[in-house]
Amino acid sequence: MTAELAFVHRFEPGAGARPLLLLHGTGGDENDLVPLGQMVAPDAPLLSPRGKVLEHGAPRFFRRLAEGVFDETDVRSRANELADFIVAARTAYDLGPPVALGYSNGANIAAAVMLLRPEALDGAILLRAMAPLAHPERTGGLAGKSVLIISGADDPIAPPANAARLKAMLEQAGARVDHRILAAGHQLSQADVRFAREWLDAGSGERKPAAAR
Ligand code: MLT
Repeated sequence: MTAELAFVHRFEPGAGARPLLLLHGTGGDENDLVPLGQMVAPDAPLLSPRGKVLEHGAPRFFRRLAEGVFDETDVRSRANELADFIVAARTAYDLGPPVALGYSNGANIAAAVMLLRPEALDGAILLRAMAPLAHPERTGGLAGKSVLIISGADDPIAPPANAARLKAMLEQAGARVDHRILAAGHQLSQADVRFAREWLDAGSGERKPAAAR
């Protein structure tokens, strides 16, 4: 089922109230994270766009200049384009605000959307994430929203120290952030699935009034 929207995407309906926005890693596509989404939130509607940037044929969500060195002008424009897609897809599919579930490059664009267009997402699970911007300009827009970052202790691509910088940025913008570091590398493990599911089951992706946190 594909409406005329600005990203190639896959949509899987679900009875749950909280949709997941699935954002794949470099070289993935809209099908990659559907099994993961179904494991962590079996009832959730799943909205899964494909990144529009091609790096030697591998889809991504924004350009990079080298491994771990991002084209921040592109990060900004692609994050806004993705946020516009989320708004349009919510209307097309009659969805509430989604929680992002992103891996690697997909986690990085989700973090950029949280920082630049905080209204577009209700929360985020960021698997093997890095800080996508050196100096995000917005602050305060994430009050009442929650983010789970899961890093691999031995991840050479997205080191936990870089994810800790992202945590600080999101907290400065008002988010409540849990950062877990697993005995893992860049690849996902069963522990990622378990922690993501527990975090969602605990209602952590739901927006709460700041006073109630
Ligand atoms: C990125 O480019 O977003 C990160 O280096 C992760 C990756 O996709 O390899």
